[in-house]
Amino acid sequence: MDKLVVEGGTPLQGEIAVSGAKNATLPLMASALLASGRHTFSNTPRLRDIRTMGRLLEHMGAACEHDALMRIDTSNVQRPEAPYELVKTMRASVLVLGPLLARHGSARVSLPGGCAIGARPINLHLDALKQMGAEVWLEEGYVVARTRELKGATITFEQITVTGTENILMAASLAKGTTRLLNAAREPEIVALADYLNAMGARIKGAGTSQITIEGVRELTPPAAAPFPVIPDRIEAGTYLVAAGITGGQITLTHCVPDHLESLIEKLRSAGLAIETSPGRIEVRSNGPIRSMDVKTYPFPGFPTDMQAQFMALMTLADGVSFIVEQIFENRFMHALELTRMGARIDLDGRSAMVRGVKNLSGAPVMATDLRASASLVLAALAAKGITSISRIYHLDRGYESMETKLSQVGARIWREKE
Ligand code: EPU
Repeated sequence: MDKLVVEGGTPLQGEIAVSGAKNATLPLMASALLASGRHTFSNTPRLRDIRTMGRLLEHMGAACEHDALMRIDTSNVQRPEAPYELVKTMRASVLVLGPLLARHGSARVSLPGGCAIGARPINLHLDALKQMGAEVWLEEGYVVARTRELKGATITFEQITVTGTENILMAASLAKGTTRLLNAAREPEIVALADYLNAMGARIKGAGTSQITIEGVRELTPPAAAPFPVIPDRIEAGTYLVAAGITGGQITLTHCVPDHLESLIEKLRSAGLAIETSPGRIEVRSNGPIRSMDVKTYPFPGFPTDMQAQFMALMTLADGVSFIVEQIFENRFMHALELTRMGARIDLDGRSAMVRGVKNLSGAPVMATDLRASASLVLAALAAKGITSISRIYHLDRGYESMETKLSQVGARIWREKE
């Protein structure tokens, strides 16, 4: 197993190109199951989760190649099944449920089980599919779903769910009649998926708002035009903005969409960072001491839960006390205890954390517990005095493309070692 070693204390300076978004690529790959033929995507990141989704599609009979472009051929998909061995390593595997059911009339997808950041059930996905006429039951740890034909329905999500919205968007594209999704997720990744589905012939309106209307069509066809580009990873971008702030540095991000990061940028500015945006670019510069800031996580366009751990790392060095409330997942503070081992002062109370800023963090051996928690430890390590070693970084490899290379390019002293 690999670990990351970081010698902290260098202000980062330079330019980082943001990669394509993991959470946009995964639903796009699943959507290829809706239309037989060749699908081509560009700007796809090289990540463990992306390879897992590729293996899942291959298990079903698709061919998946990933070099400069990603090519998926779904002409021979015959086995509408997602096995436990793959689903247990990546919850987003559940994204194949909607497309398989819509195109093949049946699906067998392992239940994901618990995960490090909370229970994360999929009841809302299943209820919505039932409302569209599917029979759904559990059998030996698998969700089994069957239908002669999915029918349009009006579905109100009782809680906003990103992959739930994506699953139903895909299923409804091939359903008979019109589906209305109310209280839908509004993330940029939803808009990107709807754009691809529409390019395949779907009729979707309202993606990016909380009401989406999908008029079902009989068939979808892979677009003949140029490769479909994946949107930039807003969470990767956000993580590097914090890296500049926490090290007292100055970074320019390229290949990014500043509009996707508005709530984070606003908080970082209030915390004292100087940030300027222009199309495709964000320049961030440290501008004096870090000010304490309270944060609550919300669905998009609110402050993202996927940036909560990284923001907490920044607040450990702020001038004052900040309160951080995690409203999306019930168990997403595991980084707090590891940050405490580096000298941070954090008190947890259920979904709230009180962070009292300290003058310095110090390097320590720490352990990554999930993807974004790992990122927060890297950020803290970049600012800490001395050496930090972060074990279990396979979590980081799930969602950050070449993180240590990108950080080294802007002056960080960071390298990978065998444990
Ligand atoms: N929920 C239910 N029932 C459901 C679905 C969701 O109760 O059927 C609850 C969840 O337990 C959670 C809340 O609703 O409390 C929101 O969960 P959501 O379904 O939106 O999360 P997700 O779709 O499983 C995606 C991202 C996550 C990101 C969340 C929230 C992908 C592949 N994953 O997860 O990304 O944190 O939305 O924005 O898009 C990450 O990249 O590190 C990551 C965890």
